[in-house]
Amino acid sequence: MTTLLLTIAAYLIGSISFAVVVSKAYGLDDPRTYGSGNPGATNVLRSGSKGAAIWTLVGDAFKGWLAVWLTIHFAGRLGADDTTIALVALAVFLGHLWPVFFRFVGGKGVATALGVLLALNVWLGLATLVTWLVVAYAFRYSSLAALIASLFAPFYYGLLFGIEPQFFAVLVMSGLLIWRHASNIGKLIAGKESRIGSKGKAKA
Ligand code: G3P
Repeated sequence: MTTLLLTIAAYLIGSISFAVVVSKAYGLDDPRTYGSGNPGATNVLRSGSKGAAIWTLVGDAFKGWLAVWLTIHFAGRLGADDTTIALVALAVFLGHLWPVFFRFVGGKGVATALGVLLALNVWLGLATLVTWLVVAYAFRYSSLAALIASLFAPFYYGLLFGIEPQFFAVLVMSGLLIWRHASNIGKLIAGKESRIGSKGKAKA
């Protein structure tokens, strides 16, 4: 019962789309109507507002971190085990991808996955973040950085902790994240992906 309740709570937390909420607070257009149409920090940055993009990133990462951190640090007393932690990690991520509050039209999950990884283990999160930063710095593509980082994340988890329920949560998250980037992969191959910071608000 505890596992089910925590999983549902995590899904609801994940369903808060900070791209939409923050854009509204900043008086910006809905990010689902321009650029890639993705409600995420990278697309919000295409509005030209760095502040809104940063708050989107922070909010989406924070919700992933919060759900998993609370489960690890408090729910143990209620009997939450590794499987519960893994399910909560997945549920908050799934909430971001298919948010109940936004007609199930969500984002690609990069920031939320980062928050989840940081809560699972700070070194795991930092290693994945550094991977993202290195690729983003080298190539200036947010999507490519996310794709490479998500390929590495399960390896980092396996190396640090071996195969346990949370490993499979990370593996599924990475798989879904890559799948959600299908259109980005097509654009990268075609040389049409927009680079970080380029403002093209026209809907792709
Ligand atoms: O965070 C999502 C990023 O990897 C790609 O975003 O808007 O370029 O599709 P976008």
